[in-house]
This record gives sequence, structure tokens and C-alpha cells, in this order.
Amino acid sequence: MTQDELKVMVAREALKYIPKDGVLGVGSGSTVVKFIEQIGLNNIPVKAAVSSSNKTTELLEKIGVNVVEPNTVEGYDVYIDGADEVDPHFNLIKGGGACLTREKILTSMSKKFVCIVDKSKLVDTLGKFPLPVEVIPMGREVVARALRALGGNPVLREGCITDNGCEILDVHGLNITDPLILEQQINAIPGVVTVGLFAKRGAEVVLYATEDGVKVLERK
Ligand code: A5P
Repeated sequence: MTQDELKVMVAREALKYIPKDGVLGVGSGSTVVKFIEQIGLNNIPVKAAVSSSNKTTELLEKIGVNVVEPNTVEGYDVYIDGADEVDPHFNLIKGGGACLTREKILTSMSKKFVCIVDKSKLVDTLGKFPLPVEVIPMGREVVARALRALGGNPVLREGCITDNGCEILDVHGLNITDPLILEQQINAIPGVVTVGLFAKRGAEVVLYATEDGVKVLERK
């Protein structure tokens, strides 16, 4: 089975989590693209959605979903999004698609984060995937120095400007044994917009696709 087929499988399973009524939060990335395709193909009604990127908004509107401004929504039940890495404690690395800031905002507004991945994203310890950090461009170097002091090797993602007009540093070489503390430390660096560590608020449910079907992990 290809990784693409696994993504379709988990995307289909995620349809079950779409609330009958109310707003749905939709993330970004290739797995979410499959999820949006499945909403369209199966004619699943979605009353309204909040979106984590311009691309997601475009795809949702193409299949007729009403995308509303997060500022007009107080909170909502379910956010569905992918991840780059998932550890056994439901902590995540996100931001491979550079949408981490809006993803974190939408996560914070939701009651339940349903994370959809294929089995290749499950890890024992986060950090093999370079940790994305969105930065204010004029503060990039000062942030990079602080990240080096934390033991990482930050590399500017060439040619990438986020939907918020910022840049991304991908931090290599981190072995993230305490994601919660590292998230706080990186958040505290002046010039950082968002770190792609989702530990203070990780996922409540992880759906992961394997050759034997989709498995469900639920946070107790
Ligand atoms: C987007 O910025 C990311 O957080 C994605 O959720 C993450 O990179 C997973 O993307 P894929 O589904 O493409 O692997």
C-alpha cells in the first residue's frame, strides 16, 4: 500500500468525526487535502468551517463549504488536521506545510483535536522531523542564535513566506524528551511567532492508517 493510499484511508475514517451541526475546524497538508476530497466525494454536509490556510480555504470553498472567519466563532467542537510526528503522549510536531500558527489558533479554539496520519508519523521521541518555528523576518538571526543555544541547528526554509508574511526556521538535531518545556522555552524567544510543537495542547484523538486498517488512539 502506498503512503497516498494510507492517507486516503485515514481521511475517509475522519469523516465520522464531522459534527452534524456547528463549525468544523480544518487543518492543512496533504492528508487534509485527501480529507477535503472525501467530504466532496461523499457529499458530507458541513454547516460551516474555519480554515488554517489559504489553500485549505480555497479547497473547501471549491466543494461548496462555507468558510467563516475564526474571529466570528467563539469555539467549536472538532478540529481535524495532520501532523509530521506524533509521540505516545499525543504530543505533535506540525508545520511541515508552514501553517503552524493558524493551526495552533484553531486547535486552541476546539474541544477535540482529531489528528489524522499514516503510521510513518508515529515516533517514540519527537525531533527527527526538523521542528518548524515561524519567525518575524527581522528577528530571524536573534531567534536562530537562541535556538542554537537550546541545542538545535536552525535552517531557514528557503523561499517560504507564510500566510502571515513570516519566515520558517526548521530546527534540526533536537531530541525532544520534554516537549512541554521546550515549547515554553521557544515560545519565550522574542521574534518567535509560533513553534510547531503541540504539547501544551496536543491531540485528543489520533487516527493512524496501517495496511490492516485505521487504528484509533484516544487520550484518557
Ligand atoms: C501543515 O503546516 C502541517 O502542520 C501539516 O499538518 C503536517 O505537515 C502534515 O502534513 P501532511 O499531511 O502533508 O504530512
